[in-house]
Amino acid sequence: MCFNRRAGDDGAFGGKAMEHVPVLLEEVLRLLAGPDVRTVVDATLGGGGHSEALLERFPDIGLLVGLDRDEEAVQRAARRLTRFGDRVKTVKSHFADMGEVLDTMGVGKVDAVLMDLGVSSFQLEDGARGFSFQKDGPLDMRMDQSFHTSARDLVNGYSQQELTSIFWEYGEESAAKKIAKAIVHARSISPITTTVQLAGVIESAAPRHGKPGIHPATRVFQAIRIAVNGELDRLKEAVETAVDRLNPGGRLAVISFHSLEDRIVKNAFADMAGRCICPPTLPVCVCGRVARVKILTKKPVQPGDEEVAQNPRARSAKMRAVEKTGRAA
Ligand SMILES: C[S@@+](CC[C@H](N)C(=O)[O-])C[C@H]1O[C@@H](n2cnc3c(N)ncnc32)[C@H](O)[C@@H]1O
Repeated sequence: MCFNRRAGDDGAFGGKAMEHVPVLLEEVLRLLAGPDVRTVVDATLGGGGHSEALLERFPDIGLLVGLDRDEEAVQRAARRLTRFGDRVKTVKSHFADMGEVLDTMGVGKVDAVLMDLGVSSFQLEDGARGFSFQKDGPLDMRMDQSFHTSARDLVNGYSQQELTSIFWEYGEESAAKKIAKAIVHARSISPITTTVQLAGVIESAAPRHGKPGIHPATRVFQAIRIAVNGELDRLKEAVETAVDRLNPGGRLAVISFHSLEDRIVKNAFADMAGRCICPPTLPVCVCGRVARVKILTKKPVQPGDEEVAQNPRARSAKMRAVEKTGRAA
C-alpha cells in the first residue's frame, strides 16, 4: 500500500490508515500506456500500485523496470508483482541512476517512465522508520537506509539558522524561526531522539498554528524529510535522464506534491521543449535550442473532487507529462 502524503496529511486525517488508491491512476494509464508501449520504467515503485495497474491493463508491456531507493519498498512491491513473472524487474536505486540500471540490464530505450514523488504509506505508518509524528519511533526518516544522515542527526546537529532555513524553505513554515529556537533549546537539555518528542517541542513552540485540524508539526516533519533525503537534489537530473532513455514518441509523467518539486519539473520540461535561453536584450534568438520533447500538459493535471474525496492525500498532486520528439537527443 502506498499513499502520497505532504503537508497536512498526518495531522489532517488523524493518522488513520486509509485505503490505498494510487494517485491520478486513470490519468497515468491514459498518458503512459497504449498498444505500442512495451517497456516501462516505474522510477518510484512504492507499493507497486501504479505498476500493478499498468501490467494488468496493458498485456503488451513486456518489461516493467521498477526502482525505489528504499529496499523495503522494492521487496514489498516485488512480492505484490510476483504474479507478473519476468515482465517485472525490481531494483533498489535512486531514480537519477536509472540510466546505469538500464545499462546493466541491457535495456536501451524505453517507451514510458513514471515518477510518482513522495513517500509510501508503509514508510509513514511504520513507527520504526521515524517519518511520522503519529507513530512514536526513532527520528530517522531515511528512505535509503544506507544514508548516513538521519533526522536525528539533522535535528540535533544543525545550527538554529540551518534549521530555520529548512523549515522555511521546504515546509513553508511561518513559525520556522520560533520552532528552530525551541529545538535548539530543548536539545541543549537532552538530545531529541523520537518523533513524538520532536512533535512535542514543535507544538509547545507553535501551539495553535496552521490550518485547523492539522498538527503544528506537519510542515516541519515534511521539511526535515525533504532535507534528510535530499529530495530535490537530483530531480532535474532524473527528469533529463528519463527523457534521454525514451524512444521517440515515448512519454514521461511526473507526479509531484510540493511546489518546489513541481517547479523543478516544470522548468526542466520547458528547457527540453526548447525554451529560448537568449538574453532578453538580443533582438533575435541565437541559442538555437531544439525541442527534445513536446509538453503534453500545458497545465498540470490535478485530481478531481471525486478522487480527493476518496483519497484526500491526493489533493496536492500535480502531474506533468512530456512526449519525446522524433529528433535525435
Ligand atoms: C508515492 S510512493 C510511489 C507510489 C506508487 N506509485 C504506487 O502506486 O504504489 C513514492 C516512492 O518513491 C520512492 N522514492 C522517493 N524518492 C526516490 C528517489 N530519488 N529514487 C527512487 N525512489 C524514490 C519512495 O521511497 C516511495 O516508496
